[in-house]
Amino acid sequence: MKGLKDLHLFNRMVIVLKDSQGRNTHLAQVGLTDQEADQIREAPSISEETQAKILDPRYRISNSYFFSHDDREVQRLFPVKIPTTQRSTGEWDPADNLIVPMLIKGKLIGYLSADDPADGRIPTLEVVRLLELYANQATISVDNLRLYHDLERSYFDTLKAFVAAMEAKDPYTKGHSENVRLHAIKLAQFMGLPADRVRLIDYSSLLHDIGKIGIKESILNKPEYLTDEEYEEVKKHPLLGDQMVSNIENLRTSAPVIRAHHEHFDGRGYPEGRRGSQIPLEARIISVADAYEAMTSDRPYRKAFTTAEALRRLQAESDRQFDKDIVDAFVTMAGRGGV
Ligand SMILES: [Fe+2]
Repeated sequence: MKGLKDLHLFNRMVIVLKDSQGRNTHLAQVGLTDQEADQIREAPSISEETQAKILDPRYRISNSYFFSHDDREVQRLFPVKIPTTQRSTGEWDPADNLIVPMLIKGKLIGYLSADDPADGRIPTLEVVRLLELYANQATISVDNLRLYHDLERSYFDTLKAFVAAMEAKDPYTKGHSENVRLHAIKLAQFMGLPADRVRLIDYSSLLHDIGKIGIKESILNKPEYLTDEEYEEVKKHPLLGDQMVSNIENLRTSAPVIRAHHEHFDGRGYPEGRRGSQIPLEARIISVADAYEAMTSDRPYRKAFTTAEALRRLQAESDRQFDKDIVDAFVTMAGRGGV
């Protein structure tokens, strides 16, 4: 939108994106009043039938559509204008409308609407083509973004299935990773972390125990205490998880977080005995969420702790197993009903 604005061709322009139901969901504009912007956001969704009516070849110039102000039906659907009865005579009428549709495989995903030309004239074909160039750029970006989101969504669903398969090995850990994920995301947001770090926590927390897929079931499901040897096996899961995800392009950044989720703030954790800020912040957050989730769930050898008891235990480990600042944030969040 900025590049377009800098051309100073029109004083009022808007790019509107629609969702699959035809509702106007996103809007980028210059020169519109807040009221006009709200009007567009709340405009009725356009049916396929109406769409066909709007994209009528009679109105077409190049790949755009120019609607003279006297066509009320169309004006109603693009309520950017102040209606007037004045006829256009080559001069731009305040109620004229220029629409550049944004189409993906024939489907209308949005439009660019331009109004109030700086020179007061109905735009020439060159100007229309310039607008189309910008609208096409925007369409391609939207298309790529949607493809990317679709891909990411299905990828994420696959991972969830993968985690569920792993957790099915032990009925007591069923849903554990998903719950850790929910706690960790809430905590990260509560702490005011930027979106990209919350996202890293999102993926990493879901996958934090993925390395357990490489640990023998007989050890994971053992109801009695583990032998030293068996415990050494279990302690390999952060490293196994690291190896598993570091080969996957989209998950590479999760590898160091997964690797460090059993490190302790005082350096007594595993696998490397890192301490304090040597442990990624994301791992320190997941570690608190992981412990809380485990404590508030039933285990074969004990019942779940109450929230109060679990919080007390977290606090008792402040500056030992956990980062005190993170425990404090979690306790504050819990106090406000956040867990
Ligand atoms: Fe773990």
